[in-house]
Amino acid sequence: MNSIQISLIFILATIPLQMNAQEDIIYNEAKVPEYKLPDPLVMQNGNQVEHVEDWINLRRPEILKLFQQEIYGQVPTPLLMTDFKILERSDIALEQKAIRKQVKLTLELQGKTLDIHILIYLPKDIENPHIFLGYNFYGNQTIIDDQAILITDAWVKDSEAIGTSNNQASEDSRGKRHHRWPVESIIDNGFGLATIYYGDIDPDKNDFSDGAHALLYQSGQTKPASHEWGAISAWAWGLSRAMDYLQVDAEHTESKVIVMGHSRLGKTSLWAGALDERFDLVISNNSGSGGAALFRRTYGETAEVLNTNFPHWFCDNFKAYSNNENSLPIDQHMLIALIAPRPVYIASAQEDRWADPKGEYLSGYHAGPVYQLFGKDVLSNPNPPPANAPRHTSIGYHIRDGGHDVKDYDWQQFIKFAKKHLE
Ligand code: GCU
Repeated sequence: MNSIQISLIFILATIPLQMNAQEDIIYNEAKVPEYKLPDPLVMQNGNQVEHVEDWINLRRPEILKLFQQEIYGQVPTPLLMTDFKILERSDIALEQKAIRKQVKLTLELQGKTLDIHILIYLPKDIENPHIFLGYNFYGNQTIIDDQAILITDAWVKDSEAIGTSNNQASEDSRGKRHHRWPVESIIDNGFGLATIYYGDIDPDKNDFSDGAHALLYQSGQTKPASHEWGAISAWAWGLSRAMDYLQVDAEHTESKVIVMGHSRLGKTSLWAGALDERFDLVISNNSGSGGAALFRRTYGETAEVLNTNFPHWFCDNFKAYSNNENSLPIDQHMLIALIAPRPVYIASAQEDRWADPKGEYLSGYHAGPVYQLFGKDVLSNPNPPPANAPRHTSIGYHIRDGGHDVKDYDWQQFIKFAKKHLE
């Protein structure tokens, strides 16, 4: 055998190893291992949290720090939004029903800049409407076919279905994701919508040379330190910069803001809601592993699969928990608990087994004791509801029929839940 043949055999032998993680996926409830969740109300020193003050002053900061150090990574330097520019505005958008604004936030540090483009629709004649704030996957122009929307010039993933190629968006992508963004019905219900292309903050690839990371590097730094921010933390940080803006523009200084995200961006909305208490309500749709689902169940996507397929999403310290979930000092019910006492909504889909719908429910269920400390009503049933039978306690949950997506049904529930808890 020559050396080329030997290396070929070696390469072929390693392929199944990489795919192994995918093949061993648990989709059978009977195979979910026994596990014991860390108690959100027991301090690391063993003391019991008995009062809201203990939670706020002692236990919450402890848990927040663990999520920063072990899972998502910490933002290295505080940097707030200081400058914004209204790029475009119309008072006759959506057939005269709405105000449309396109705003550019510029973040600057030591000569480096980052631009974040927010597309906003506001219902007319409602002062300070509640606003849904959420990232989109392919550019603001995809959420509705509105010719005035500026097409992103940031790096985008190629997708034939969306109409992006050579990592650029074009006219072809206009309105291609409208089914996920029922803008008209959001406005008709009296809510505003603010959306941002997530790649403005950090392009979703395993490359730390661009986006928000590069903006905040110390001189000579080329990648985040092992406890510093991965992409999800960067995206969460971007949502807070959008919040900086929403709070200073007179049109919505008093608006309540609902942070909402789907899938990887649902992981992001939960983390943003945990970090930034200015978000009044938090929604995750099909957020799965690294979002609402409990890591310890290892049903569907696991820590190892995340670390293998998306090594840039979490901080480097998180790699130590691949196939080692039980040694995590936290689990995702504690991420939900960090949002307390603010209302939080977890949405699952029946066919989205990859995201472990039951694990998504259980994190809401096990966050209950913290919400109860604040006197809030919680999910009291340890079993998830059947499809299309939402529960709207302070911790809201539904599982709908169908697969991994954002559907009108999901939005109907988000709107109903927001009306119930914010008004
Ligand atoms: C993949 C990934 C999930 C993620 C999803 C998405 O399926 O494994 O963790 O939520 O992409 O963001 O669409």
